[in-house]
This record gives sequence, C-alpha cells and structure tokens, in this order.
Amino acid sequence: MTPTLAAPGIILRPLVLADAAALFVALGDVEVQLYRQQAAHAHVGETERYIADTLGRSRAAWAITVDGGEALGRLALRVPEPGIGEFGIVLRAAAQRRGFGLKALALAEGFAFGELELHTLRATIDAENAASIALFAKAGFAQTALLPSHERTKLGLRDGVVMEKRLRQA
Ligand SMILES: CC(C)(COP(=O)(O)OP(=O)(O)OC[C@H]1O[C@@H](n2cnc3c(N)ncnc32)[C@H](O)[C@@H]1OP(=O)(O)O)[C@@H](O)C(=O)NCCC(=O)NCCS
Repeated sequence: MTPTLAAPGIILRPLVLADAAALFVALGDVEVQLYRQQAAHAHVGETERYIADTLGRSRAAWAITVDGGEALGRLALRVPEPGIGEFGIVLRAAAQRRGFGLKALALAEGFAFGELELHTLRATIDAENAASIALFAKAGFAQTALLPSHERTKLGLRDGVVMEKRLRQA
C-alpha cells in the first residue's frame, strides 16, 4: 500500500487512475518527456494506461500535490530486488524548479528506509538529463555507475547514469 506523506508545501498521496487528466499535462509535454523512454503521450487514454502500468509495477506510487488534490506529477518506487528501491519521478513544467522534487524524494526516502527497510535507493537517469542528475545529487545521491548504451529511447541509444543513496547505519 502507498501511504500518504506530508511536509510543509507538499502532500504525496496514492496515485489513482483518475489522475490521468492532470498527469497528462506532464506526460503529454514533449519537453518534459525528452529524456524519458516514452514519447509524449498523444491522449489521456495513454496516460491512464501508463498509470495502470505504474501501479502494477511499483511498491508505492504517489501523486505529487500541494494539498492532496491535483497531481502536478508523480513519484514511483519500484523494488526490483530485495533491499533496493528504484525511483522514477516526473513533474509538469509549471511545477518544476519549485522544490517539489526534492521534498518528494525526502518524504519517500523516509518511508523506503524506514517502513520498507530498504538499504539502497537508486535512480537510473539519461546521462544528459542534467536537471534529474542535479536533483538526485542535491538529495544526497552519488553516481555509482555510468552505463554506456544503456537504453534505446526516442533519442536513440542512450548512456545512463546510476545514482544511489545508501541507508546510513547508526
Ligand atoms: C527532474 C525533475 C523531477 C526535477 O524536479 P524539480 O521539482 O524541478 O526539482 P527541485 O525544484 O526540487 O530542484 C532541486 C534541485 O535540483 C536541481 N535542478 C532541478 N531542476 C534543474 C534544472 N532544470 N537544471 C539544473 N538543476 C536543476 C537544482 O540543484 C535544484 O535546486 P535549486 O533549485 O535550489 O537550485 C523535473 O525537472 C522533471 O520532472 N523533469 C522531467 C522528467 C524527468 O526527466 N524525470 C527524471 C527521469 S530519471
């Protein structure tokens, strides 16, 4: 189950299919989707299928909101192997650079290291996605690997950067 998590100025609540129209604002935007694997969504139905897929594959999936209402973006946490969590995050253009990404990661990290007892959090990012690399660096993640020709996206065969944060043992 995905918990609702809150901090000043942000509420992460469970992502639901009904968030499709709001999330389409982000996922239908060519610029926002530039470094993500999928092309910009052409219609809301595509975003609804994407949400269903995210919910099926994630241990937790949140709508990023100010007050529990409209989804400005979404944060997903997959657990691909025991102890390890992998984040995926996207925000609509108008909500970027306002601190939501950093706050969302901090909230989800507390849940992942705490309740889920994960020991490592990870993001695999297109090597040219400077905004995302800078976000995770600011959140305390460090680059642990460069993956040449990691993934084929609409931009072609792309290098990836792995950023990780480990639980600090007391
Ligand atoms: C990556 C993304 C989630 C960042 O979220 P955000 O809410 O805009 O980030 P924040 O406002 O919390 O910024 C935190 C820090 O990250 C860095 N950062 C964020 N956006 C940046 C940008 N465009 N250029 C350079 N640094 C950036 C800065 O260090 C920033 O701190 P500062 O504003 O005090 O300088 C957002 O740009 C996005 O949705 N991009 C498109 C989708 C995407 O590429 N997702 C990642 C796939 S791995």
